[in-house]
Amino acid sequence: MKPDMRVQLCGVELVNPVIAASGTFGYGVEFEEIVSFRRIGGLVTKGISREPMAGNPAPRLIETAAGMINAIGLQNLGVEKFIALKLPALRRYPQCAVIVNVFGYRVEDYVAVIARLNQADGIAAYELNASCPNTRDGGIVFGSDPSALAQLVAAAKRESARPLIVKLSPNVTSIPEMARAAEGAGADALSLVNTFVALSIDIETRRPRLANVTGGLSGPAIKPIAVRMVWEAAKAVKIPVIGMGGIATAEDAVEFLLAGATAVQVGTASYADPRATERLAGDLEQWCGRHHVQHVGSLRGALDLTPPAE
Ligand SMILES: Cc1cc2nc3c(=O)[nH]c(=O)nc-3n(C[C@H](O)[C@H](O)[C@H](O)COP(=O)(O)O)c2cc1C
Repeated sequence: MKPDMRVQLCGVELVNPVIAASGTFGYGVEFEEIVSFRRIGGLVTKGISREPMAGNPAPRLIETAAGMINAIGLQNLGVEKFIALKLPALRRYPQCAVIVNVFGYRVEDYVAVIARLNQADGIAAYELNASCPNTRDGGIVFGSDPSALAQLVAAAKRESARPLIVKLSPNVTSIPEMARAAEGAGADALSLVNTFVALSIDIETRRPRLANVTGGLSGPAIKPIAVRMVWEAAKAVKIPVIGMGGIATAEDAVEFLLAGATAVQVGTASYADPRATERLAGDLEQWCGRHHVQHVGSLRGALDLTPPAE
């Protein structure tokens, strides 16, 4: 029997729990010839702001051992152009949940983007990027201070006509504290982790490798820390958690599900293999079949912490 791969995520039914992560899948439309949108649960667009943003100067992306560091700086075409130029093509794939990642400098910027997106069709949910470490006076403030995060989430939730996913920063001391702050302020789901603030130095020139000096580390290098944080967040809240950080294989995804995630996102892996999301969704179904898992949802939080038998 084929395993049931469907999962429910704050009122949105996904055909499977594999979602393309923000910033690694363009606006989605760039991948329509590469990935079958019928075979992935959803996609998250790159961060959309009120006005267009040029991003940071180059170099903005470097490879590291088992990962990469980026400081793209949230380059995007702004909410108006996103709705006019990108969203219409995504409406052709109603089976694939389109989640729009929202970013702003101030609470009112986030609210304005959500208000505008509310008027557009073809969006399943919003993902609030409260965690981008790359803009000087932007996300990091909301992402690392529980009361600032709660204020942002409450304002966004008041405006939002759709489920609100809050994306947490891993650059904090206590994930449970931030998770509870977001849930208490009305978040419908959490997603984590965003990238870890990192620095890489060229020892010959003695200069930072990225023009922005620091950037965000992603990829397999961060996976075990991300799994731990997803586990902590899932224990701390009742709302669903979407796990990510270094997922490149179905087995990686299973780890996050066992840690308590309802769904997973795949980011950096799409750089190495643009079809990674679709491949992973297929592999996960096969994995479930081989392991007699009839419903993928039964893996959620099934981490076994009982002491091993003697
Ligand atoms: C090049 C790049 C751009 C990103 N842009 C965004 C973004 O716009 N908004 C956001 O919330 N996360 C952004 N992220 C973070 C990813 O969505 C994801 O949280 C992180 O990379 C960890 O997952 P991974 O190890 O699978 O890449 C970006 C990541 C990368 C590598």
